[in-house]
Amino acid sequence: MDLVARAKRFREIQDPIENLDMKEQCSFGERIRNYLFSFATEASWFTNHGSFGAVPWPVWDAHSHLLNRVDEHPDTWFRRDLNPLYFAACDAAAKFVGASNEEVVLVDNATTAVNTVLRSLRLGEKDGVMVTSFSYAACSIAARAVCESTGAKLHVMEINLPIISRESIVQMYREYLDENRDVTFALVDHITSPSAVVMPVKEIVRVCRERGVKVMVDAAHSPGQLPLDVKDIGAQFLTGNFHKWVFCTRGSALLYVQDGLQSSIYPLVASHGYYDSFRERFVSQATRDMVSFCVTPTAISFFDKIGGLVAVTEYNTSLISWATDMLCEHLSLSPLPVPPEMKAPFMSLVVLPPSLGPPTPENEKRLMDKIFSDYGVQTVICVVDRRLCCRISTQVYNIRQDYEKLAEALENEIKQTNNCV
Ligand SMILES: Cc1ncc(COP(=O)(O)O)c(C=O)c1O
Repeated sequence: MDLVARAKRFREIQDPIENLDMKEQCSFGERIRNYLFSFATEASWFTNHGSFGAVPWPVWDAHSHLLNRVDEHPDTWFRRDLNPLYFAACDAAAKFVGASNEEVVLVDNATTAVNTVLRSLRLGEKDGVMVTSFSYAACSIAARAVCESTGAKLHVMEINLPIISRESIVQMYREYLDENRDVTFALVDHITSPSAVVMPVKEIVRVCRERGVKVMVDAAHSPGQLPLDVKDIGAQFLTGNFHKWVFCTRGSALLYVQDGLQSSIYPLVASHGYYDSFRERFVSQATRDMVSFCVTPTAISFFDKIGGLVAVTEYNTSLISWATDMLCEHLSLSPLPVPPEMKAPFMSLVVLPPSLGPPTPENEKRLMDKIFSDYGVQTVICVVDRRLCCRISTQVYNIRQDYEKLAEALENEIKQTNNCV
């Protein structure tokens, strides 16, 4: 039996997805939450799938099963089983985003993927690296750190609210790149975080490539939330997390490298496979836990089993639209000023009143902690373009009550602060 066939057999034997009772266990809302997720207590409302995801038990089962296998015979795992399972997982990831198998490896997370590309590019003093004020903070920091160590110049294009249209953003890129000819690499977020704006990445990539600028699309939030066709987007590099919206155990992100460029991309850790093929470079990195990578096909099977993007989108978009309207109406708040077609399907923001405090990192943390400790509601409080906001997510286990509890908490906090002034 060849290695890939053997890996497939392992998967079939261990597949905890097959026997799921769709009606009993997988009906969206309370049922799937109670049957398949492990949220802490009943007095706890979770409205933040976006930050770290949540893992259903069938995927945990697959994970535990593989962890057990590792220690049934560690040598067998590392010397024989790991590579074919990792390669099969990379193939599943590639299929999920419309890439060829040779173009995809799995890495720990989107931040690692961004660092990997930035560090592989051999940037120098003549280069400019472009991010925006809406780029994910950790990845902007990665860009800054690489610029500091290579002498490249960091460019941060300011994006301000309100966002008028997709075309207005594309035009900003055009103008910025025409004025800053030294930009040679752009990191373009697909769904921005924390602001939850869907950027017109295909058009931005075209603008960049017409000017000879290499592009990496940071699609950390896209797999499982948006249809993703990497060839259609056309960037040289792309990353996306499976541990956010595809329910994988944490530590699985794809790194897509367009055909022909694999020979220039190297993992951050040089180890046994460093001088081997693209995939071998990434799988042979000393002794490390790679089980989450190998679980990725199971997470994808779970996602498909519960209805795939169509069913998940139908439930989550209807709930997010209801929850956003309810919060706005109940608390007299406004949504983030972004055109409807640019709003993330499963995440949205409402702008909080100035009475809740200044738009500072300290106040973000204070309020987020208070809402959790006093009301049992986990949400995200964040600052977007000098506005203090609340970001909610919807996922198939959420119910209306999660957001009603959040509304109660915010209402109380607003009342209390109003009484103080
Ligand atoms: C746009 C974006 N990029 C990168 C990341 C980082 O993801 P990870 O923590 O898995 O590296 C996030 C996390 O939310 C994100 O929103």
